[in-house]
Amino acid sequence: MTVVQMNQAKPLPLLNVRDLCVDYASRAGLKRAVDRVSFTLDANEVLGLAGESGSGKSTVAFAIARLHHPPAFITGGSVTLDGTDVLALKGETLRQWRWRDVSVVLQSAMNALNPLLTVQAQFTDLFKAHGIRNKAEIRERSAELLRMVGIEPDRLLDYPHRFSGGMRQRLVIAMALALGPKLIIMDEPTTALDVVVQRELLEEVTALRQRLGFSILFITHDLALMSQFCDRIGIMLNGELVEMGPPLQMVEAPMHPYTRKLWNAIPPLHPPRMPPRRVLENTP
Ligand SMILES: Nc1ncnc2c1ncn2[C@@H]1O[C@H](COP(=O)(O)OP(=O)(O)OP(=O)(O)O)[C@@H](O)[C@H]1O
Ligand SMILES: [Mg+2]
Repeated sequence: MTVVQMNQAKPLPLLNVRDLCVDYASRAGLKRAVDRVSFTLDANEVLGLAGESGSGKSTVAFAIARLHHPPAFITGGSVTLDGTDVLALKGETLRQWRWRDVSVVLQSAMNALNPLLTVQAQFTDLFKAHGIRNKAEIRERSAELLRMVGIEPDRLLDYPHRFSGGMRQRLVIAMALALGPKLIIMDEPTTALDVVVQRELLEEVTALRQRLGFSILFITHDLALMSQFCDRIGIMLNGELVEMGPPLQMVEAPMHPYTRKLWNAIPPLHPPRMPPRRVLENTP
C-alpha cells in the first residue's frame, strides 16, 4: 500500500522579528536597549514579554509598531508582519498601516484618549483618518465596538472623564479593535486596574480574540496573569530575549537562571503547611 504523504507545511508566522537592535542616542553616544532580539508570533497567538524594569520590553513593542522616535533608533534587524517589511514603511503608508494592521494599547488609557473630545468624536477621527467617511456607518461601527467591550452605545456622546479607569481601558481596546488589526500590542494594559477588573478585561479580550482572530503581544510584570493568558512567554534581560516557551515549560523547567529567579519571586499559591500551634493551657 502506498502511503500518500501530505505536505502539511506550517503556515508562516504572522510576525517575524529577526535580530532587532534599538539604540538610544545621548551625548555619550549610542546605548543599546534592544540587542539582537528574534522571535515569531503566529496568527491568533498570544505572546507574553516579561522581564525586569528597563530590560527593553516597551522599546521592542514601540519599534515593532514603528512608534519609536528619537532618541530611539532601530539600528539593525528586520520586522515582517504578514509579509510586510515593517521597517521599510514610510509616510502615508505607515500611517495607514498603523491601526489597520497593528494597534497598541498602553497602560494609561487617559493618555491615549483625548479629554476634550467625546468618545464618538474620537472614533470618527480614527475612521476618517482611514478613509471611512459615511456618518451612518461610523455611528454603527462605533456602537458595535462599544458593545463588544461591554459598554452601552448610548455612552458614545460622553467625554472620557465620565468613565471609570476600567471603562476607559475598555474604550482604548475598542479603538484598538476598530479597524480589525492582525496584531494588538498591549504594554501593561491592565497595570493601573484592580485585580478583579484586570481579569475581567483580559477574559473579554480572550473572547474577542477567539471571535475576531487577532494576535497579541502582551507585556506585563504580572507573571501569574501572563502564564494564564499567554500561549508562549519570552523573558527579557538587559535588552536580550534570553528564553521563550510555553508557560508550563517556563514554570516547570526554566532554562535560564534569570527565568528561574523570576518565577521564584512569585509567592506560592499553597504555602507550606505549618505544624499546628500548641495551645498553652491556663492562658487567658
Ligand atoms: N527616551 C529614552 N531615552 C533614553 N533611554 C531610554 C529612553 N526610554 C527608554 N530608555 C532606556 O532603554 C532601556 C529599555 O527601556 P524600556 O522602557 O524598553 O524597558 P521596559 O522593559 O519596558 O521597562 P518597564 O518594565 O519599566 O516598563 C532602559 O535602559 C531605559 O533606560
Ligand atoms: Mg515598559
